[in-house]
Amino acid sequence: MIPPEHRPLWTRALAYLGVRQNAEHTRYSTGFAERLVACCGARGDIVLPAIILHDTGWSTVPEDKILASFGPRTRYPELRRQHEVEGARIARRLLTELAYGPPDIEVIAAIIDGHDTRAEPISLEDAVVKDADKLWRYTRFGLETVRAWFGHTVAQQLALLEGWGKTRLVTDPGRHMAMGLLTALQAENRSD
Ligand SMILES: [Fe+2]
Ligand SMILES: [Fe+2]
Repeated sequence: MIPPEHRPLWTRALAYLGVRQNAEHTRYSTGFAERLVACCGARGDIVLPAIILHDTGWSTVPEDKILASFGPRTRYPELRRQHEVEGARIARRLLTELAYGPPDIEVIAAIIDGHDTRAEPISLEDAVVKDADKLWRYTRFGLETVRAWFGHTVAQQLALLEGWGKTRLVTDPGRHMAMGLLTALQAENRSD
């Protein structure tokens, strides 16, 4: 699932993805990012390192406060911001260790530093990272993980996903992928 050329980075990133199901989330989102790169003509050498590293900053947030840092019952919005800032810092360090070019490192770090709280994408690569970050929620794993975080029923979570597909996805291929995945989830959960 992780492309061979990005495995050295993935191996290092894993040390920072041990909370919030982030390793599995990132594995799914990296797959979606690869598809979106192909659909959108974005730079894979920017998008894939950015998505692999985007949530490494959660490793710096106290574990008992993570689920109160985002979502419907946010109490610590500053910790949500912290995961972006610290993720950018970790990314700069790991990418430098792996001898990525300094200009690319800055582009990747800028995407990570704001991937969650910045409303408007700053580039096509940023837009692709944003959508890849959200598409995992439309998988069975994402549905069950996110609804467990917030105590939602399957029906409540499916309704949220329907709304997010219209408002939070920023590329056309991302929206289409979300609606395709949602259609499958809805079919699997029909009670009629
Ligand atoms: Fe994030
Ligand atoms: Fe994420």
